[in-house]
Amino acid sequence: MKHLRRALLLCLVTTAPLAVAAREATPGQDAVASAHALATAAGHTVLAAGGNAFDAAIAVAAALAVVEPYSSGIGGGGFFLVHDARNQHDGMVDARETAPAAATATMFLDADGKVAPARSLNGALAAGIPGLPAGLVYVSKHYARLPLAQDLAPAIALANQGFAVSEHYAIMAGFRAPAFKQDSDAARIFLRDGKVPPLGTVLTQPDLARTLTAIAEHGNQGFYGGDIARRLVAGARADGGIWSAQDLTGYRVKERAPLVGHYQGIRVVSAAPPSSGGTVLLEALNILENFKLGELNKVDRMHVVIEAMRFAYRDRADYLGDPDYVEMPIAHLIDKTYARELSAKIDINKATPSANLPPVTTDPNHHTTHLSVMDSEGNRVAATLSVNYPFGAASVPAGTGVLLNNEMDDFATSPLTPNAYGLVGGSANAVAAGRRPLSSMTPTFLESAERIGVLGTPGGSRIISMVLLGVLEFADGGDPEKMVSAPRYHHQYLPDQVEYEAGGLDAATQAALIAKGHKLNESKRRYGNMHAITWERATGVVKAASDPRGEGKAEVWTPAAK
Ligand code: DON
Repeated sequence: MKHLRRALLLCLVTTAPLAVAAREATPGQDAVASAHALATAAGHTVLAAGGNAFDAAIAVAAALAVVEPYSSGIGGGGFFLVHDARNQHDGMVDARETAPAAATATMFLDADGKVAPARSLNGALAAGIPGLPAGLVYVSKHYARLPLAQDLAPAIALANQGFAVSEHYAIMAGFRAPAFKQDSDAARIFLRDGKVPPLGTVLTQPDLARTLTAIAEHGNQGFYGGDIARRLVAGARADGGIWSAQDLTGYRVKERAPLVGHYQGIRVVSAAPPSSGGTVLLEALNILENFKLGELNKVDRMHVVIEAMRFAYRDRADYLGDPDYVEMPIAHLIDKTYARELSAKIDINKATPSANLPPVTTDPNHHTTHLSVMDSEGNRVAATLSVNYPFGAASVPAGTGVLLNNEMDDFATSPLTPNAYGLVGGSANAVAAGRRPLSSMTPTFLESAERIGVLGTPGGSRIISMVLLGVLEFADGGDPEKMVSAPRYHHQYLPDQVEYEAGGLDAATQAALIAKGHKLNESKRRYGNMHAITWERATGVVKAASDPRGEGKAEVWTPAAK
């Protein structure tokens, strides 16, 4: 298949010189920005071996599954936003987890009909059917240049040889240590004697290396069928889960059309449902286009951005879910006329109480990771991948090394009951067999006449507001360093409050926002872990940056001739 496509491409090159001449310039440099230096190095290895951005994304994602197990993994899922420079095709590879067939709308309620939050967070009942293995296989088959086994090799080596416990690992493991059952595979792999391993401890994952090798050798069948699948089902059921062999064999990746909008001349390409990311991002940007942000003072600008977040997150709660099961008015939500109507409701002097917005209809910190890649030919990947909570469900089916996600908590486990991120939802995001839970992951491409941008971040419900602030930085001419490091603030409709980063707002700004009627809540920590790349078309300069809040690494290389 890959060879056929390459042959076809060669044909095009030899028979259609005019089309080739019209093709846009290419960056000429490769760039990777990810949450871990070892994962960025894995990307470099396959790029240096002649791989393209898609090979690098596979290598980085698989390596993150090993060295950043609290954020994403083979037992989780996510979205790969892809741009294929050969034909300018934009796609969204949806490798989101699905609810097992035995899932029901009441599975996370107790005997009194109240949400039992621990059930959708800890243990295998919280786990959706993983999508990442199928996502890697799909990207390899349809976009990459090297064999899947070559792209997975660095991750397999890291799983066998181990990685050193860092300060960040220790914080995450400490947060989730109580959820690990002491005699479990999960505790054996990620803790030492039930405690956070000392800094520098080298953690090897031989079972995970075997599972990754099975995927490398047999593709989907290596994970969703055969011995690994049998162990996954047995292990999940032994830990209170409801998985079946058919759930695994029935899992399918879907390539969907990304959402596309425009903000001040920038083409914005972002995640379509079952992520809410692109919809909320575009709705908020459309609202903001009705204000001259550049002419507003700092407080008024923040105020309208907060109001735009409020309106757009409200619609998320009301309408969004899995597009294969729910009808959604996406075209309306990202329509400029609708945004103009909403912007007319924003009072520049006063916060709109969320309670005054139409209520959400109910009848019929955290972890995740993001990687940004661009190659010398102009191919791009923005992938946000997750196991949801740090270390997901804290459960590893025996002998697989696969840490299960707890993505089921992203469903509205009961109408209007906040989930782990305080998000509410209605019937559009109710638990049901086979459905994908609504996500906030927002991998995004930005394209202006001058520059191309690739960005995204983890952060639960705050992902979308972080990407929104990142887009506004880009629109103001900010480089990746600015996009990833700017102070953050967030409003998600409910709770009706502005959350801002520790130390992120000076006293005068706080007072001015309070005077407009906003409730403020300083978060205990700085949040997010954004990774961004830009390419300036005119100068050819490629820049990449990883969020100073994390331990990631961004690099730009000039490749040897391929
Ligand atoms: O898909 C989602 O929206 C969540 N599972 C993402 C979780 C997340 O970003 C946690 N990170 N801090």
